[in-house]
Amino acid sequence: AQAQKVAYLGQVLHFTGDPSQATNPQDAYQYFEKGALIVDKGKVVKVGIASELDALIKQSKVIDYKDKLIIPGFIDTHIHYPQTEMIAAFGEQLLDWLKKYTFPAEKQFSDKAYAKDVSDIFLHQLLSNGTTTALVFGTVHPESVDALFSQAKSLDMRLIAGKVMMDRNAPDYLLDTAKSSYDETKALIQKWHNKDRLLYAITPRFAPTSTPEQLTAAGQLKEEFPDTWVHTHLSENKGEIEWVKSLFPDRKSYTDVYDFYKLTSDKSIFAHSIHLDDDEVATLASTGSSIAFCPTSNLFLGSGLFKLSTMKEAGVRVGLGTDVGAGTSFSMLETLNEAYKIIQLQNQKLSAFEGFYLATLGGAKSLSLDQYIGNFETGKEADFVVIDWGGTPFQAYRQSKTTSLHEKLFVLMTIGDDRNIHATYVMGKKQFEQGMAHPATKS
Ligand code: GUN
Ligand code: ZN
Repeated sequence: AQAQKVAYLGQVLHFTGDPSQATNPQDAYQYFEKGALIVDKGKVVKVGIASELDALIKQSKVIDYKDKLIIPGFIDTHIHYPQTEMIAAFGEQLLDWLKKYTFPAEKQFSDKAYAKDVSDIFLHQLLSNGTTTALVFGTVHPESVDALFSQAKSLDMRLIAGKVMMDRNAPDYLLDTAKSSYDETKALIQKWHNKDRLLYAITPRFAPTSTPEQLTAAGQLKEEFPDTWVHTHLSENKGEIEWVKSLFPDRKSYTDVYDFYKLTSDKSIFAHSIHLDDDEVATLASTGSSIAFCPTSNLFLGSGLFKLSTMKEAGVRVGLGTDVGAGTSFSMLETLNEAYKIIQLQNQKLSAFEGFYLATLGGAKSLSLDQYIGNFETGKEADFVVIDWGGTPFQAYRQSKTTSLHEKLFVLMTIGDDRNIHATYVMGKKQFEQGMAHPATKS
């Protein structure tokens, strides 16, 4: 069959900038109520009002999604695939939660076949929630990353992932060494980084589980492979912060530990970053580092309330993360619902426009991937989601009472979930459709 352009018709929305920084939010997005998204060879050709794209549509195969919403694929800037099976683990805050639930779950990923099965379930969970790109933690086992990348490659997903580096303060069965983590990470970078759409993140778990020697090795890898990402946790829990102080007494702060070991950069993403002082925020800003804001996780582990406006004012890029399995949902809609409440508790507002920006273009920017994904600019990769405004009869009823785009989007992010995801496209190919069999159900 001849390769052919496809025109997807529907209500098309995408962002061109940050609505919270624009004088008028309308300047930051384009919405075409009778819109068309034209795709060819996996890339966006054009987006606009359908009646104005007549000539292009005539040359295309047409798929008409009518009054469904077509938006760029969601971007999850922080998630742990090996924790898929232990989501909703009862009763603990971060450090005890790690000991009691997380480490035992991660032990199993030395088994490549096990890692492959969980990778399948995990990637299906992402796609069935409309998430097309994620920044992902593996486990300490290189096999875990091989399994995930292999599966993501077969779906042609743009995914960033890495093997955990962890050489102290965890059970022996999960420890590597400064040397082995360096060697294994280097081999994985050479094997996977820039293979198709896949990218590698150097992944020290967090400062408490790495010796100074291992953090030095991580910084050395970043220097040798400057176009790789750095992915870790920062300032999530008060007990954790005290622990970092005692482990690194010469450093002036938790952020300074990462900065000292040359792990801050414009491709470094620090999950949580809840309890930072002004100096730490300034370090993130001056190094161009990003933060993954993980609302469901921060509430579930009782970690604290992320200060979104402080970070924006300081010029620090922020993306949204689910942080499954401390996070309680793969859905970026449910994540936005909780994000709004975290901002509410600080007497501020998260508009639906800002929310959907964060889940798409803002996420792409925070991962330095906005030259490839995040909106429907001509030439970008065609990752998109077809959303049913009425995911349930009640949602359809509630939507029937809305009177503006903002209200429709706010209702969607507040009561929406995976039932609203009608279809998910990756590089112009449909990889999920509602009703598709879930890999977890195979015997
Ligand atoms: N800090 C170190 N490891 C983890 C983890 O697995 N999850 C979360 N939420 N925080 C961490
Ligand atoms: Zn995490």
